[in-house]
Amino acid sequence: MTRIAPSILSADFMRLGDEIRAAEEAGAELVHVDVMDGHFVPNITIGPMFVEGIRKITKLPIDVHLMISDPDKYAHDFASAGSDYITVHAEATTHLHRSVQCIKEEGVKAGVSLNPATPLCSLDYILSDIELVLIMSVNPGFGGQKFIPSALEKIRKLKDTITERNFSVLIEVDGGVKIENAAKITRAGADILVMGSAFFGSGDYSAFIKKLREELGK
Ligand code: DX5
Ligand code: ZN
Repeated sequence: MTRIAPSILSADFMRLGDEIRAAEEAGAELVHVDVMDGHFVPNITIGPMFVEGIRKITKLPIDVHLMISDPDKYAHDFASAGSDYITVHAEATTHLHRSVQCIKEEGVKAGVSLNPATPLCSLDYILSDIELVLIMSVNPGFGGQKFIPSALEKIRKLKDTITERNFSVLIEVDGGVKIENAAKITRAGADILVMGSAFFGSGDYSAFIKKLREELGK
């Protein structure tokens, strides 16, 4: 079954605890946390202290998306804050293999994210070491952007590779995911849908997930 990961980037930060509890009650399966440093991406968001706070109020897995330069420096802090998944960008680290090992040494599931223009072949020698690939379907940095259609072919190709090589790596898709394009994205091979503005902008989270599930047929 496709898992839904609301991105708290679009939540009401002044009521973050309530927002996360409401998302959990509505049936969300993960909490997606976007960490931005104003260097790798043009925006600045939150750090490990927030993850620590979120850990206290939800049982859902915390899915941390690091859009930061030098991610190795922060793997320990995000892991001890209670992250279940930590994903680094292939473009943000010179030594991707080392960055993945830093996360795994902390006992946390490791993910690698690719920007829209980064080819899938950059995963060739790391796919067997990770639990998740995050395909960016917008340029990272902001919520509410439009889905870049070439991501669909990328998801399909990645799904084929994972099946051929018999890996159990999850495919997560992030950026511009809406009820209207969700079925297309899951048919292409997505296991986890990150939804920010569509989810938190909907007002009624239970009704939103119900409609989404109907759309997905599962
Ligand atoms: C963008 C972030 C996303 C963002 C998605 O850089 O990684 O997680 O919150 O927001 P929407 O769903 O509005 O595109
Ligand atoms: Zn994200």
